[in-house]
Amino acid sequence: MMSAQTNAEPEAPLALTLDELLDLLMSILSDGLDHPEVWDEMPDFLRLFPDMVSHIDSRVAQEPDATAQALLIMLQSIALATAGEFERAFALAEPLAIKNSQSALVQGVLFRLKGLREPDNLTYDLAGKFCAVPFRQVDVLENSTHLCCASWLHASVGDMRTSDWWQVWNSPTAQKIRASIHDGTYRYCNKSACSSIAGNTLAQSGDAAQESPKWARIIAAKQTTIEEGPETVNLAYDRTCNLACPSCRSEKYAADSKTRATYDEMQRKNILPLLKDAKTVFVTGSGDPFASKNFRNLMKQLTKEDYPELGFQIMTNAMLLTPKQWAEFPTLHGRTRLLKVSIDAATGLTHERLRLGSIWPIMLENMVFAGELTARGEIDCFKLVFVVQRDNYLEMGDAVDLAKQVGAQHIYFARITNWGTFTPAQFEQKSVFMPSHPEYAQFIEHMQDDRLRDPIVELGDLGEFIADKHAAPELMARWASSDLGRPATPQPASSS
Ligand SMILES: C[S@@+](CC[C@H](N)C(=O)[O-])C[C@H]1O[C@@H](n2cnc3c(N)ncnc32)[C@H](O)[C@@H]1O
Ligand code: SF4
Ligand code: SF4
Repeated sequence: MMSAQTNAEPEAPLALTLDELLDLLMSILSDGLDHPEVWDEMPDFLRLFPDMVSHIDSRVAQEPDATAQALLIMLQSIALATAGEFERAFALAEPLAIKNSQSALVQGVLFRLKGLREPDNLTYDLAGKFCAVPFRQVDVLENSTHLCCASWLHASVGDMRTSDWWQVWNSPTAQKIRASIHDGTYRYCNKSACSSIAGNTLAQSGDAAQESPKWARIIAAKQTTIEEGPETVNLAYDRTCNLACPSCRSEKYAADSKTRATYDEMQRKNILPLLKDAKTVFVTGSGDPFASKNFRNLMKQLTKEDYPELGFQIMTNAMLLTPKQWAEFPTLHGRTRLLKVSIDAATGLTHERLRLGSIWPIMLENMVFAGELTARGEIDCFKLVFVVQRDNYLEMGDAVDLAKQVGAQHIYFARITNWGTFTPAQFEQKSVFMPSHPEYAQFIEHMQDDRLRDPIVELGDLGEFIADKHAAPELMARWASSDLGRPATPQPASSS
């Protein structure tokens, strides 16, 4: 049994009443994290309290607090699934999961229900798997720092503006997150959003340990403090940008002088030292690297002499990526491992509507320039990025041609998600990939464009909409029908 209060054998009388047990479990769950160790105990709880499910019904009816009600419903759904009543369990948990798409706890409950329904599916068994991300990566946001993409791992490990980078990197929360990887609970991770968990692509611990003596040591000793700094640093604190794309923001933003001074100080005290051990720095998913004075200064300071191991991943709207600007950043020359340019269109009309402030003829020139830089070896890899929505899906195929014309090696497509700039009704209108959308059938048709099967194309979370031409006719029919059998859940912003 799970705790000091409940560590009796299942057969022995429990010192707690059912209400006391429920109160104890609710207090454990109130941290908002997943608690697989609680779900593991449910068979014993049900043996002791066979009336748990009906008792929770009456507790919920009397409970005035919505959070407490939700916790009770989660326990009830786990109890039902443990008893094999999957339909009732999912009927209770799914509405909660839709409402709380960012909650590690609610998504953890859904993950456990699926695991109980499909006991042979190894996706739902995280024991013995190892995710290296929180041991090697840090994402610095405006007021928080994360050990993975913040929309997958919401917990902040500290604030780089006010704390020393070393304390943040190995803060108590950072250590708890790493411990949750070692113990297999992954309790901080959003198990529905994370593609490594949901796609069952996490390495086995044994394989991860083979990578190097460093990883063998971290895994064997279940290390939660990491002596060297992160290998990958994602800088996403400055939202300053020269454009105001409606998908990203409601108005143009530039950091004021006070904010810039704070970032300057943080860069000097924390970011420059933090990057000493890093192999990759990503600038930026928050604004534009060439529009932000802070990022411009930082990129210029990261010289090859001081940071010999460091490579850059640059993501930009490319409006400022002119030959003159490029000449101002010698630190990027020959050290840009990846350049991502967002276009979201293949025509000037659509591009300028979706990328407010951009000018298509300048973009075309700058993309050709980026292609030349790639051909000269100043950039290792040049990729276009296209966020798919109702207004641009007709241009996906042409965008593949455009990528080739400008010398890009890849083009990445992904669904638009709602970053809070659209009302639910507006977002529904944009979400052409939803089966309920009036143009869904046309969207599916356009996804079959042969150009989207070109090796340069990366389909991100749109791969499921491509039918395999050589597949069985019944499969073709399923792909072509307006019901793909699963809802097109919006994914967190990806920077693949
Ligand atoms: C926020 S921008 C920052 C980097 C740079 N300014 C740019 O546009 O490439 C990062 C990426 O997010 C994409 N993006 C913007 N709004 C989005 C949304 N609502 N859903 C998904 N991706 C979005 C952009 O198109 C871009 O590819
Ligand atoms: S959310 Fe996924 S990728 Fe991130 S730390 Fe957890 S398991 Fe790893
Ligand atoms: S260019 Fe990038 S950061 Fe700027 S508004 Fe558009 S999507 Fe956002």
